[in-house]
Amino acid sequence: MDLVHTIDEVRRAVADARRAGRRVGCVPTMGALHAGHTALIDRARTECDFVVVTIFVNPTQFVAGEDLDAYPRTLDADSTVCEAHGVDLIFAPTNETMYGPDAVTTVTVAKLTDGLCGPHRPGHFAGVTTVVAKLLNIVQPDAAYFGLKDAQQAVVIRQMVADLCMPIEVVVCDTVRDSDGLALSSRNAYLSADQRRQALSLSQALFAAAARIADGERDASKLIAGIRERISAAGPCTIDYVEIVDAESLASLARIETRALIAVAVRIGEARLIDNLVVDADDDRR
Ligand code: PAJ
Repeated sequence: MDLVHTIDEVRRAVADARRAGRRVGCVPTMGALHAGHTALIDRARTECDFVVVTIFVNPTQFVAGEDLDAYPRTLDADSTVCEAHGVDLIFAPTNETMYGPDAVTTVTVAKLTDGLCGPHRPGHFAGVTTVVAKLLNIVQPDAAYFGLKDAQQAVVIRQMVADLCMPIEVVVCDTVRDSDGLALSSRNAYLSADQRRQALSLSQALFAAAARIADGERDASKLIAGIRERISAAGPCTIDYVEIVDAESLASLARIETRALIAVAVRIGEARLIDNLVVDADDDRR
């Protein structure tokens, strides 16, 4: 495994792999790697011959007042994890490499960023789509891997790749959870033991809502009220939103009749946690 910091080094390594006929997979991350990230790496490993993991804590996707400075940076440990999972190349650029002093171009995706996390984190998705567009242009993979944990991000990136005619397959992988249901996140590190117990209310409320849907409940406002109640009852927190939207268009749903995304964002202490479930009204629980 190689660890490189410059665009030239990535391009050379990927060009060599491609010349050898290898399928290239890319897993963009901000590091502090956990089993959610390694699930993406493992999937890339099974589908590609040359796996690139990018590790970059992207400043432009952090809104003023967010946790950019506190965000965990653990490159040594991350390298060990990548090595153990058969990664071929880590690209860990500096801010200067990713953003030249004269850069004035951003990539924005309209409409799909209007709801859910969009209004709560103004500018966040422009930061994400700009950096992901740049990373994909640098690596030029055949396939790129993202997690359903960040469901809106995955939908937005899929649309960006289609709209910009990038010849890249976007693969979205299921959310990896701890055995007690908590969705793995680098931001779980901000939680005290009590707050972590409280945070279980997110996944528990989502699974309870999915069970009600499986039992025939179709009214989104009733389901949302139930989720809010359960999360509020668990302890002090600020609920940014609880929403039920179409899983592809992200349009708000009054009734669960299509593949629905039930998404929540909640602040507990210093941590802003998001979680979601995709549920099909015609199916049993997903
Ligand atoms: P980061 O939060 O490090 O996540 C990197 C990738 O891992 C994302 O696609 C995310 O959805 C996925 N992921 C995180 N936790 C997961 C879990 N519990 N189960 C499954 N997948 C999980 O998301 C970002 O970084 C950034 O916004 C990035 C796309 C790298 C752009 O800077």
